[in-house]
Amino acid sequence: MKLRRSTTAGIVAAAVLGLAGIVPAVATLKPADRPADQSLKALGMRHGLYIGTAVDTDALVDESDPTYRTKVASEFSTVTAENVMKWSELEPTRGTYNWEPADRLIAFAQKNRQQVRGHVLVWHNQLPEWLTEGVADGSIDKEELRALLKNHITNVVTHFRGKIWQWDVVNEAVTDPWATSDGVITYKGFWAENLGPDYIADAFRWARAADRKALLFYNDYNIDAFGDEGPSDKTFFVYKMVKDLKAKGVPIDGVGSQGHLATQYGNYDALQAAAALQRFSSLGLATALTEVDARSQLTEQVKAGNSAEINPRDQASAYNYSVLMQACLADRHCLSYTVWGFTDKHSWVSYTDLGDGKGNEGMATLLDENYQPKKAYNTLKADLAFAGGPLVQPRVPQRANPGRG
Ligand code: G3I
Repeated sequence: MKLRRSTTAGIVAAAVLGLAGIVPAVATLKPADRPADQSLKALGMRHGLYIGTAVDTDALVDESDPTYRTKVASEFSTVTAENVMKWSELEPTRGTYNWEPADRLIAFAQKNRQQVRGHVLVWHNQLPEWLTEGVADGSIDKEELRALLKNHITNVVTHFRGKIWQWDVVNEAVTDPWATSDGVITYKGFWAENLGPDYIADAFRWARAADRKALLFYNDYNIDAFGDEGPSDKTFFVYKMVKDLKAKGVPIDGVGSQGHLATQYGNYDALQAAAALQRFSSLGLATALTEVDARSQLTEQVKAGNSAEINPRDQASAYNYSVLMQACLADRHCLSYTVWGFTDKHSWVSYTDLGDGKGNEGMATLLDENYQPKKAYNTLKADLAFAGGPLVQPRVPQRANPGRG
C-alpha cells in the first residue's frame, strides 16, 4: 500500500514524538516497539556509549532535593566528581586527606552500576593554599614540589585504584590563542611555570605506576576542532603534544575534549568536531567528551522572560550539544559523553564570572532548574535513538597503555 507522503510523515513524526515521550505514539507503534527505558544512559548503550554527568556531591546528599540523586542514578552510566577529587578538596591541610565525599560518590556509582571518571590529578586551579603559598614564599623548592606532585598522584590513584574507569591525569596545560600577546600556543599554569612541561609525562608515568588498568586522559577545552594548524591552533598543539607523548612511550590512553560551549560564539559543526575526534583517535587513543555544556548570555530581556530572546538561546544550546554528540557517535573510539552538570539548578556557570560578571550567563544544561527537560535533552535523546550503522558503529574498547621507559 502506497502511503501518501503526508501519512508517512505523520507516522514518522508520531513515532519520533512517542520516543521522546512527548505524546503517545500512534497505534501503529506498539509500546513493545519502543524501548522501555528511554533514559540517556539506555539510549547511549545502543552504541556502547557511556553518558555521564559531573556530580555536585553536596546536592547528591541534599535530603530536601531527592530529585537530584534520582536523576543522576536514572539518566547516567558514568559520573565525574565535579570538585571532590581535586587537590584542594582532597588535601586541604598538608598530609591530611579528606577522602569521604569522593568515597561517597564512588559508593553511589557502584550501587547504581555506573563508571567513574576521576577528575583531576594535575591542574593549576583548586590547589591547596599550603602548596601554592609554599612555592610562592620559597619554602617549597622545585625538587620538593616535584616530589609532592609524585606523592599526590601516587596517594590518590592508589586510594581509588580499581574504582576509576578514566582519569583526567593532566587538565588544561595549554594556553588559549588570546592568552599570549603573540597568540602563539604554549604551556601554561602553575606546574609548567615551576617544573617545566616535563611534569606532564611524569604525571602519566606516576599514575600508571599506581594503577595498571585505569585509562589515562589528557583533558582540555577549546579543542573541539582543528584550525589552520599554525602556531595559534590550540587543537593542533594538543594533537602534537599527545602524539609526542605516545611516541616517547608515555602511558597515555585518551584525550578528553571538555566541550564547554557558549551560544554567542560561532563554534563548529558536527563534521568539523567529528574530524577532530577521529584525528585524535587515529593516534591510537580513545576520546571522550568530558564536560559538555552550552551556556548563553542572560540579557535583561532573557531575565525578564522574553521568549523571543529565550527561544533562540534554548535552540542554540540544543544545537551545540547535538554537534558534540554526533561527533562522538561518529568516532568509534569516543567512549563517553559527559555533561558538566545536568540541571540549571546546579551549574558552575551560574556562580562563575565568565567575563561579563557573575550571574550573567546561564541556561547551560539539559534540564531547567525544576528538572524539566529542555530542547537539549530531547535533542540528545533523538541523536542517540536515531543514530546507527553504517556511519555510527559500537564503541571500540580501549586497552590501557602500559607505557615504556
Ligand atoms: O569549597 C569551597 C567552600 O568551602 C567555600 O565556602 C565556597 C565559597 O567560595 O567555595 C567553595 O569552593 C568552590 C568550589 O567550586 C567547590 O564548590 C569555589 O569557590 C568555586 O570556584 C569552585 O568552582 C568550580 C570550578 O571548576 C573551579 O575552577 C566549579 O564548581 C567546577 O564546576 C569547575 O569545573 C571546572 C573543571 O574542574 C575543569 N574544567 C573547567 C570547569 C569549569 O570551570
